[in-house]
Amino acid sequence: MPSSVNGLRSVDFGVTDIKAAAKFYTEIWGLRPVADGKGSIFLRGTGPEHHILGLHQRDKGELLRVNLSAPSEADVDAIYGVIRQTNLREVEKPGPITEPGGGYGFAFQDPEGRTMRVIAGVENHKDTADNIDRPRKLSHCVLNSNDRDAGVAFYCKNLGFKLTDRTGGMSFIRANSDHHCVALVKGDAATLHHVAFEMPSLDAVMRGGGRMRDNGHPIEWGVGRHGPGNNVFSYFIGPDEMVIEYTAEVDQVDDTYPVGDPEKWTWPKGRNDRWGINDGPSVRMHDAGKHVAFSPDIFHPAL
Ligand SMILES: [Fe+2]
Repeated sequence: MPSSVNGLRSVDFGVTDIKAAAKFYTEIWGLRPVADGKGSIFLRGTGPEHHILGLHQRDKGELLRVNLSAPSEADVDAIYGVIRQTNLREVEKPGPITEPGGGYGFAFQDPEGRTMRVIAGVENHKDTADNIDRPRKLSHCVLNSNDRDAGVAFYCKNLGFKLTDRTGGMSFIRANSDHHCVALVKGDAATLHHVAFEMPSLDAVMRGGGRMRDNGHPIEWGVGRHGPGNNVFSYFIGPDEMVIEYTAEVDQVDDTYPVGDPEKWTWPKGRNDRWGINDGPSVRMHDAGKHVAFSPDIFHPAL
C-alpha cells in the first residue's frame, strides 16, 4: 500500500498586524500561544497537535502554507519519492523541522502554486481535555482552484487522499475518518476560501457565535448544517478579511461511504443547508473568500 498523509495539522497565515491578530485568535477565537519567534506566533487548540495556526507578520494577508501530517518519517520519505516524480517546480528535500513542534518533513508547491508541507513526528500535547469555548483542532481547509478535478486527482494520486463527495462547486477529500480535511472549490484563482476550526459540540459552535458577536464580529453565514459532511457551521471574517469557521459534528466515514455527486447535493430553491434557517453567505464573506492568495515562494519563517 503506498504511503498516505493522515490529516491536517495546521495552517500558516501572513497577517498585517501580528499583535492584533494574536489578540483576536487568543482572546476571542479561543486558541492559546505555544511558541513565538521573530515576527511569528504559534497557537494551539485543546487537542494534541502542537499548534494549529501559525501567524507571521507580512505586508499583506496571505495563506503561507498548509501543513499535513504523515504517520511516520518513512511515510514522509515515501511521499517525497512520489512527489519528486511529478513535474512540480518546487519540491524541498525532507529533513528535520527546526520550527516549534519539530518533526521531520518537506514542503512543496502544488500544481497551482500552493505551499504544502508533509510532516511526521511533531511534539504532541498531553493535556487535551475539551473546553466548550475553545477549538480542538483544525477541521478543514477549503481552497479555490482553477481546476478542481486536476487538483483532486493530484492529491489523491500523490498524497493518498480519497474523494468523499462532489457537489456542483466543491470537491471534498479526506485523509482519515473525518469526511474531509481539504476541499477544492471551482474558482478562477488558487486562493483561500476558508479555514475551519473544530469545536467540541454544537453548543460550542453556538456559544462561539455569541462570543464573536459580543466582540463585534457578526456571523457571515450560519448557523447551519452542511449537506456533505453533515457538520454544523458558523462563518466569520477574521483579521485581514480571512474567512474562518467554527464547525462541529463532522461525519465520520470509511471506504464504504458512497461518494456523492452533484445530483445528490442539490438544494431546493432558497435552501443552502439542511436546516434552512440562515440566508446564505454575506456579500462580505463572498468577497473575503476569494482575495487571500498563497505567497509566491515556499515559506520559511524567520525564526
Ligand atoms: Fe467549511
